[in-house]
Amino acid sequence: MCGIVGFTGRENALPILIKGLYSLEYRGYDSAGIAAFTKDGLRVVKTRGRIANLEEKIREEGDLYCNCGIGHTRWATHGEPSDRNSHPHLGGRDGKGKVAVVHNGIIENYKELRERLEAHGYVFQSETDTETVAHLVDYLHTGKQEDLAKTVLAAVQRIRGSYALGVVSMDNPEEIVAARRDNPLIIGVGEGENMIASDITAIIGRTRNYIILDDNEVAIVRPDSVVVMNEFGDVVEKNVQTVNWDMSAAEKGGYEHFMIKEIMEQPKAVADTVKPRIQNNAVVFEDNGLTDERLRDIENIHIVGCGSALHAGMVGKRVIEAMCRIRCTAEVASEFRYENPIIGKKDLCIVISQSGETADTLAAMRLAKQAGAFTVAIVNVVSSTIAREADGVLYTWAGPEISVATTKAYSAQLSALYLISVKIARTRGLISIGDERALCAELQRLPSCIEKALMCQEDMQRIATLYANRPSVFFLGRGLDYAAALEASLKLKEISYIHSEAYAAGELKHGTISLIEEGTLVVALATQPALFEKTVSNIREVVSRGAVVVLVTTDDFTGDESVCQHIIRLPKCLYEFSASLSIIPMQLLAYYVAVERNCDVDKPRNLAKSVTVE
Ligand code: AGP
Ligand code: GLU
Repeated sequence: MCGIVGFTGRENALPILIKGLYSLEYRGYDSAGIAAFTKDGLRVVKTRGRIANLEEKIREEGDLYCNCGIGHTRWATHGEPSDRNSHPHLGGRDGKGKVAVVHNGIIENYKELRERLEAHGYVFQSETDTETVAHLVDYLHTGKQEDLAKTVLAAVQRIRGSYALGVVSMDNPEEIVAARRDNPLIIGVGEGENMIASDITAIIGRTRNYIILDDNEVAIVRPDSVVVMNEFGDVVEKNVQTVNWDMSAAEKGGYEHFMIKEIMEQPKAVADTVKPRIQNNAVVFEDNGLTDERLRDIENIHIVGCGSALHAGMVGKRVIEAMCRIRCTAEVASEFRYENPIIGKKDLCIVISQSGETADTLAAMRLAKQAGAFTVAIVNVVSSTIAREADGVLYTWAGPEISVATTKAYSAQLSALYLISVKIARTRGLISIGDERALCAELQRLPSCIEKALMCQEDMQRIATLYANRPSVFFLGRGLDYAAALEASLKLKEISYIHSEAYAAGELKHGTISLIEEGTLVVALATQPALFEKTVSNIREVVSRGAVVVLVTTDDFTGDESVCQHIIRLPKCLYEFSASLSIIPMQLLAYYVAVERNCDVDKPRNLAKSVTVE
């Protein structure tokens, strides 16, 4: 949710800021802007729209050369996407502004702060909550000798809410002050230059070394130094970490969109997640706290997540309950945190998040932790907040995922859940050593099954072309197929803007079937042999009412094929792991429908990759 980048060094900062913004654009893309110190002073250029619009505007207004500046790409929370609501925001009574601020997050007490600042003569130019920070910093800074960092420290103590901030002031044209609470911010450490950024992709072109800013810390970033202070203003020592992947992983590599590239990378993402955790035909975890003793004691499992991560959790719930016979719930993180959940001290809370920064998921995890449950996070972004705060982490090794619609991270999450399930089942004696060996062999076979499933690419492209103009699509399935149907439906709607619903196949007749009419597209998932016949009966119900059906099933489907117009057969795998295969044609369908409709596949409207607000 919104990307921040800042650079201070000896080179021209402008191209570095623009490049950084492009790599952060997936986080939010309704407007963009920069503030830079030029020979004429602090200049701000900002505009509604994409980074390309910003580049255009900078060209129109006359290029600027600067050695230090900050940039922002926005996902609006307060105030519509517009030129004046774009960041950076200037702070100052005279409307000229000595201080410029970029912000990710929400200032909850912005109204109260705004009224007080207006009473002190500040005139607001925007509707954003962020502008209060700019004026507050100016107010606290004006007429005082204190350095900017101390002022920012004083300002954030008056703020309620969440923030990652980049602040520059005309008094110190080589300096960027950064601060964070509940929103990510890192500092890229270079030679004779340093950066701030919302994530690694924005710095990796210049340096592989970075520092993670922790909650309530404030950093002073200059070309030759980085000083981090805690909330009391005391200097703290920080670890410099090194990125372990390179730029090519975050580039398109010849594909038209990141999404299709990431779909194709799924065999590798699953292999990289599974492989290191299977040794001698057994699941082996290192350092994630899921010890045999703890696993034997678990009373209940709560899985929490949002969007696709939740859908992965819904698959996980079914697999874990079937294999381990432990009560397991999969809940929407934003609901879980406010519904006073019953959490026991022997409960396990599995938190799932690609970004590791999702505000609702983080809050749900904190709640579970506070209640005494052991929290283990399935996370893709190394050292993200959720990864750092969880009691244990099981990283998905999917590599950087850029497309807003998740594909490979979801698949890697599924395989992490299977690993946990097998581990619990074996530890509690529910499966034999032989069973575990067989399950591990199946898990190791999954990447090649996914590879085979991807061969339906052309079929899905053809089907997408035929139905891309349908106003609404229904996805049906039972059990694991229902969980996969939810993800299939989300994929389609988020990138193609076609209304879509996922239904438990047997539930449709209790009301929603009234929406089925001549030509309605229904995609039915049937990958579990025991439920083939039941699902076929439900397909007949919709066919009788005029639906056109695409059936996604397995090689060994024995039911009546004549119920559907199109049939996609997937390679056979252990039925517990079938969601890993059935989602493949669904991702391809969503992708090709979106392409057919000329949608912005990687950056769908109204969305952002990382949702760091409640
Ligand atoms: C997935 O395609 C979505 N864009 C979205 O539902 C996403 O899965 C959700 O916001 C959770 O994100 P996270 O995994 O980073 O926590
Ligand atoms: N609340 C700020 C705004 O609406 C920042 C939003 C964000 O973090 O994306 O401008």
